[in-house]
Amino acid sequence: MPTRTAQTPGAFAARADSILSQLRDTGQLKHLQTIEGPMDATVRLRDHGECLCFCSNNYLGLANHPEVVEAGIRGLRDFGAGTASVRFICGTFTPHHELEDRIARFLGVEASYTFVSAWTANEALFPTLCEPGDAIVSDALNHACIIDSIRLTSVIKKGVTKHIYKNNDMQGLADALAKARAGLPEGAVIWVVTDGVFSMEGSIADLPAMRRLCDEHGALLVVDDSHGTGVMGKTGRGTHEHYDMPGSKIDFFTSTLGKALGGAAGGFVAGPQRGVELLIQRGRPTLFSNALPVTVACSASKAIEILEREPQRVEKLRANVKYARQKLAEAGFDVLKSPTAICPIIVGDTAKAIAMSKRLLEMGVYVIGFGYPVVPEGEARLRVQISAAHETAHLDGLIDALKKL
Ligand SMILES: Cc1ncc(COP(=O)(O)O)c(C=O)c1O
Repeated sequence: MPTRTAQTPGAFAARADSILSQLRDTGQLKHLQTIEGPMDATVRLRDHGECLCFCSNNYLGLANHPEVVEAGIRGLRDFGAGTASVRFICGTFTPHHELEDRIARFLGVEASYTFVSAWTANEALFPTLCEPGDAIVSDALNHACIIDSIRLTSVIKKGVTKHIYKNNDMQGLADALAKARAGLPEGAVIWVVTDGVFSMEGSIADLPAMRRLCDEHGALLVVDDSHGTGVMGKTGRGTHEHYDMPGSKIDFFTSTLGKALGGAAGGFVAGPQRGVELLIQRGRPTLFSNALPVTVACSASKAIEILEREPQRVEKLRANVKYARQKLAEAGFDVLKSPTAICPIIVGDTAKAIAMSKRLLEMGVYVIGFGYPVVPEGEARLRVQISAAHETAHLDGLIDALKKL
């Protein structure tokens, strides 16, 4: 009879139960809500009925746009349900090229390459493009996938050093760059990486200052603009456009197709042709994992086409953001200031944030409370996200419900 050791399923069951009951006891257990119709300004939630939706990344209201839906259906009809392959074997279809060319043109860079998510795009970037001796300088509040990508890089490419600076602290970045440069071997590269829009704060990276510092130190600048693409700048190009910087001033972009650009799924890396070529040749997530589904590529292409055709969607989003932020401030809420569509209301305690979000849902307003470990302990918040799909009545409904809290 084999003996039961610490590795047996019994040990796992006890450990899993203990973690879950601790989450339950401290009010931190997440409950998945089920949506019974399309994503829009309002959604139909199981057990709650029609609710105002203020927690989706559907910034431009394109997730259920008839042309975006139709493009996906056409893709399904013309190319079938799946690629049944990774890109380099037999998984590259016409819509992949069309989408990647469109993304590159949209951002004003040489090339782009798609992945099944922005998480995967970021996870591919550093482990593929870095080599031993390189240094990665990263903002402390960068998205989890950037953090994990850097961790993975230091395992795959031993000798890559990591330097973290305080969120958006340009003196901190300058110091980190000087440190990274001091120990840099001949031929090695310094990479500076930041979110364009910080997903939990709604604040934006100081890209002009970052560009200057990168130029001073000969470093490359990588911007993950998942919450900036389609949102920031006059025509929704992203956070660089907010600062009137051309896309060519950013060495590499990563971003998602799962938010403003149709919201289905998928992500990309965009930048110089040679960098994209290296990802195609050597990126493990693309060599060993299936291509972006063609239906999604078709929908995302259509979403970018609509964005280019209708820049007024970005204007409406901006007007909605201004209105909501002003009303929230007038109502006395502590909202972190910024021009983005993410308006976090800081409440402190995780259980309190979750309880507030539950109460809002009872009033027909869907806003999520974020707590530890998604944000630091003691900085739990309600994250309100504004969309171009919202009308003034929706925004007023949010403010009224928040006041009643
Ligand atoms: C800054 C940032 N990067 C990457 C991602 C991941 O995007 P995706 O859902 O496409 O993997 C997110 C999503 O929350 C994000 O906010």
